[in-house]
Amino acid sequence: MLRPLFASIASLALIATAGAQTATPSASPDASPKTSGPAASPHPKIVWNRVHVEAPYIALTFDDGPSAANTPRLLEMLAARKIKATFFVVGRCVQEHPEVLKRTVAEGHEIGNHSWSHPKLSSMSDAAVHAEIKKTHDAVLAAAGVAPKSFRPPYGAFTERQQRWAFQEFGYPTILWTVDPFDWKKPGPKVVAQRILSETKPGAIILVHDIHKQTVDAIPEVLDGLLAKGFKFVTVSELLAMDQPKPKATPAPAPESPAKASASLAESPTLLTCCPER
Ligand code: NI
Repeated sequence: MLRPLFASIASLALIATAGAQTATPSASPDASPKTSGPAASPHPKIVWNRVHVEAPYIALTFDDGPSAANTPRLLEMLAARKIKATFFVVGRCVQEHPEVLKRTVAEGHEIGNHSWSHPKLSSMSDAAVHAEIKKTHDAVLAAAGVAPKSFRPPYGAFTERQQRWAFQEFGYPTILWTVDPFDWKKPGPKVVAQRILSETKPGAIILVHDIHKQTVDAIPEVLDGLLAKGFKFVTVSELLAMDQPKPKATPAPAPESPAKASASLAESPTLLTCCPER
């Protein structure tokens, strides 16, 4: 459901801004996503849904927090294994739980911006989108003394024009994802862990949500299972810095699971889902 929408929006955005474009290389055949997640634009250095690496590095990302009920427990699990992750935080939740964000940063994790109130940004005005991003940028800076390093649009809904603008204005690359276990549907910790363990490949960006108890319950098995497979955890910025411009040939993607094939934007949660303990 996302891909046709993205394609049409992307085409319109390209036409509208063609005059402002510098020459960009045409998309390589590898620009299309190999696994789940929305399609990335043909601007590989601004929009990412996976990274081409020559060693088993991966980035684990947590969206929609901080959560006072679940994030601290997650931080303990990460610290016990000396693993650094990336947290795409919602500004309203940062405002509500600044101490959790501060601790997250103090423990060496990376922060990304995930908007102020988790709306579908691709259909909003420029002024409204700007406010969503800027308020969160400033809230993170005020709470933890660091600026977010990247942006993840809620639902992956972000036009090419918005992607370029976020990069130019805030220095944010747009970070999508490679592995999506649909943890927000609460299939149980075992299923969440099994999906992640079976789908993760080198260079993967894994998307989960630290606002759900079930997800955090799955994390010990996820971390220990991925470590046992030889994966090494880095932050999103570190993973992006490892990108190889000429990827090696990769095996054909696995067929999409029924869960993924049936997923659509309409099925995604449409309300702000952070701070559930409120
Ligand atoms: Ni989200």
